Amino acid sequence: MKTTLPPACRLSQRVLDTPELMPRDGANYSITDAQYAALDAGLTDGKSLLISAPTSTGKTLIGWWAAANGLEHGKKFVYLVSHRALASQKFDEIQKLFRGPWLGDDPHALVCATGDGVIDGSGRANSSPLSATILVATYEKYLALISAGGPPQDLSNVVFVCDEIQLIGDSSRGKHVELLLSVLKRTGWYQFIGLSAVMDDIGAQQLAHWLNLSLVKVDTREKSLTIEGRWRSGNLIARSTPNGIEPLHNLPTVKEMELNDMIQELVDLEKKPVIVFCMRVDDCYDLAEKWATTQAATQSVEAPAGLDLDAGLLQLINKRCAFHNAELSEAERAFVEELMKDKTVDVVFATSTLAAGVNFPLGSAVFSRWKRWDFDKREHVPIRRDEFQNMAGRVGRMGQGTGEGIVLATARGAPDLALLQQLMDFSTRETLGVGITPTDFGSLVIQLFAGGLCTTRDGAFALMSSTLSASREAEKGVGNVEHWRPHLNQQIDRLINTHCLIETKNRIVVTEFGKAVARSGLKPETVEHFLHYLNEHGEQAAQLLPTPEQKGRDDDLLFIFAHGSLLSPEFTLTGGPRTRNISYRFNRYGAVSNPQAEALDTLLFERPWVADPSAANGARALSEWAAGADRETLEQLVPDVRLGLIESMARDVSWLLAAVSEVIGSSSSLTLADAARHPLLRSTNPNLLHIRKFSRVLRRYAVRIAYGLPSECHWLKELELHGPARRLTRMQIVSIHQKGISRPHLLMDGSVEMDALRQEALPKVGRVSYANQVRDAARNWKVDQRRHFRRRHEKKAVMHGVENIISDLYDMKGKRLETAVINAFQDLGINCSVLDDGTKPAWPDLKIEFAASGMASDIVAEVKSKERETALVPLNDAIEVVSAAAIAGLSGTPVTTICSPGAEPSVPTAISGCNHLSVVELVDLAEAYLRIKDGNLTIADLHNWLTTPGIALTEDLPFNNF
Ligand SMILES: Nc1ncnc2c1ncn2[C@@H]1O[C@H](COP(=O)(O)OP(=O)(O)OP(=O)(O)O)[C@@H](O)[C@H]1O
Ligand SMILES: [Mg+2]
Repeated sequence: MKTTLPPACRLSQRVLDTPELMPRDGANYSITDAQYAALDAGLTDGKSLLISAPTSTGKTLIGWWAAANGLEHGKKFVYLVSHRALASQKFDEIQKLFRGPWLGDDPHALVCATGDGVIDGSGRANSSPLSATILVATYEKYLALISAGGPPQDLSNVVFVCDEIQLIGDSSRGKHVELLLSVLKRTGWYQFIGLSAVMDDIGAQQLAHWLNLSLVKVDTREKSLTIEGRWRSGNLIARSTPNGIEPLHNLPTVKEMELNDMIQELVDLEKKPVIVFCMRVDDCYDLAEKWATTQAATQSVEAPAGLDLDAGLLQLINKRCAFHNAELSEAERAFVEELMKDKTVDVVFATSTLAAGVNFPLGSAVFSRWKRWDFDKREHVPIRRDEFQNMAGRVGRMGQGTGEGIVLATARGAPDLALLQQLMDFSTRETLGVGITPTDFGSLVIQLFAGGLCTTRDGAFALMSSTLSASREAEKGVGNVEHWRPHLNQQIDRLINTHCLIETKNRIVVTEFGKAVARSGLKPETVEHFLHYLNEHGEQAAQLLPTPEQKGRDDDLLFIFAHGSLLSPEFTLTGGPRTRNISYRFNRYGAVSNPQAEALDTLLFERPWVADPSAANGARALSEWAAGADRETLEQLVPDVRLGLIESMARDVSWLLAAVSEVIGSSSSLTLADAARHPLLRSTNPNLLHIRKFSRVLRRYAVRIAYGLPSECHWLKELELHGPARRLTRMQIVSIHQKGISRPHLLMDGSVEMDALRQEALPKVGRVSYANQVRDAARNWKVDQRRHFRRRHEKKAVMHGVENIISDLYDMKGKRLETAVINAFQDLGINCSVLDDGTKPAWPDLKIEFAASGMASDIVAEVKSKERETALVPLNDAIEVVSAAAIAGLSGTPVTTICSPGAEPSVPTAISGCNHLSVVELVDLAEAYLRIKDGNLTIADLHNWLTTPGIALTEDLPFNNF
């Protein structure tokens, strides 16, 4: 610790006066050695640095200083992290620190972007993350964002902080980090700060040299950490203290080696909570059970409202212990973490998911083992040293008041002790891994071309040879990476074969299809897997879609596509390494009985379905999950598969379907020349109609699978509560649905009878009555959201001098709204002719004359409005345009209904099977209009958006890049 700041440090008075940004000990400053060293190295002069310092040395604060300093100089700030949980933790922290004082409390100035979505400080979807003043993102998401729109723009006004930058050496995820950093290296930055705890000296030097950063290396910890390696006749001690690393030494004292006894010892020492690191998920359950049998239930904890908590876990919690692993739902994990912070549990049995970079209060830790089963070697092998040290480093963190950290591990014999000794040794670090290898070229090459980073084979090779991995590979071997060239060419050929790239005599260009594939992050083979299916079976499958006349078989179709997703190349080795995995638990006992698979046999992606039990079992679970089944039902489907596993599989499949939907939607635009499309998406393909029809259907299934709810309940996810929780949980919605009150008019009904049903569905927890909150929220459904977007739109309108157009769109009803819509289109240079001039009442209102602007067709439109802000356009009105167009003799023309303020929640599903019909709500139309004014959307994009069958949402508009 240091009590002064380095002489040249230029932290602003505001930073110095903010206690969270400047820790003090009485009147003195109190900063860590790493923090001091960073300031001393010129952090506040905009110097770019690589900070390598042990765990819990306050590296995050160094990042915040860079942020504050940058913001004060008018720069933007981008904070990149290794995974989603970390992104949301840091986003919360950043909001608390910077939103008020630095950003004038503007919630849109801060955005968090991860694979789960892009939201701003108001908790709502945000469409222009790159224009945010502060952006927190995962590496992968940021790469996708900046390479989506061609060559990356100038980033010379951005301060980057890259947390856990050692991820660059990770064998599965390093490649994306490295590619991103290669891009940033080319575009430049204002300041770049890399933060890492676990890097060897050589790796750190190489990385710093490659990015032209000054290396700031600090070896001492701020809090002492002791690791004891206990064995039959002694105790090996590794200690790292603020004074440095002590040499490893052996004490003759023999100590407890039984797990439960060691846990008890730490509990007695008040080193709580104690974390027991488990190498396998099953160990978490088994070891927790063993410990719990020795404990009495001493408390009776109540789960928070809406948390679907495992019954066994609750029993453990009442005995002051818990487990924590990837099979728990996110909400369960968050709850366990809360309990650890509150000291409601003393002992937690966890896999390394708990260890990854998140700042947790741990008193001490025990390694139940430190070896994992290696399937190739068929033996147990020690975990990597960096993993061991990172796990151990969770203990004894600053600001936790638990004194010095202690970690226990045991060795069974002399060879074991030698291995453990290597893991424990604080003075040596694991060599940085190599991020990019030829097997990764597949997923990288498409990014290079789609991101406009190169246009020839040689260019691609030059880029790959300029990566850090290439220079390290060259150093290791023959001095160059010529041997990479054939691998690279092979991947380029593959992308040409899958219609992502086109090669002319002297250059390579990326097709619209290729761009869409690159944005989606999918393997091109996955998209083809769906295209081939839809080409062959689309027509037949389309017959099962709901229409205004028939209910359809939506659940069955969802099953088919969930099954198809699990059979797709993302989960296999086709087209390169797997990008997603199905947990082995789904196939532990073979295929379970599967009535849907039986019944749908001829329509499935693969037959017979029993050939792949994982996919069939997974689809079975996802189908029930998406139909809103409760935990009990779900956990009985496939033996040993818990809710959390289904939830995480749902996340993967939802991502996949949304991505496929987007690729099909954007690369089959009717206006696009046939030669530029994938062969199956060309107008000459008679099945194109069916393929396109599924684009928005797949997106709807993606949402159903993400939420685990039937379509009619989706609107409930959007309700904005004004209590401690902002949204209803899945369990609460399921219970509303089970009571039969999920329709808006029932949920907002104030009668005694409905009140009673609502109370039953949402029992009081503590003193908070959810039932009333939900009734009120239902009455205001979308109103808040609409007001929010209206305010944003009005602000933007000022920039373009179109205030009147926007306010008319929002305010006008009936005929006058029609005029407002005409004016908006006219302002974009698109003429509208009035079809229903008062003398032809059954005719549609308007013809939007896109064809005159070179688009593939005109669009026939009907404008429907409701006077009240809370009223909605019903299904019958939403589909009227179809018959109206026929009466006017315009049957072949795409039709759309513009709804003000919005459409009833049943509409999107009910129109799934309609040809040519789209529905758009006013907010979304206003958004599209303004994006064209901004230059972020083309007329062709707008045309494609409105002619894709289904509901046209802001979310389907191409991302805004500025
Ligand atoms: N100068 C300081 N004085 C006291 N506590 C501090 C100081 N700086 C940071 N902390 C606290 O120390 C804890 C650990 O900090 P932080 O998470 O930034 O560590 P880190 O170096 O990023 O570690 P890791 O490598 O494990 O991510 C936090 O709770 C933080 O609030
Ligand atoms: Mg950190």
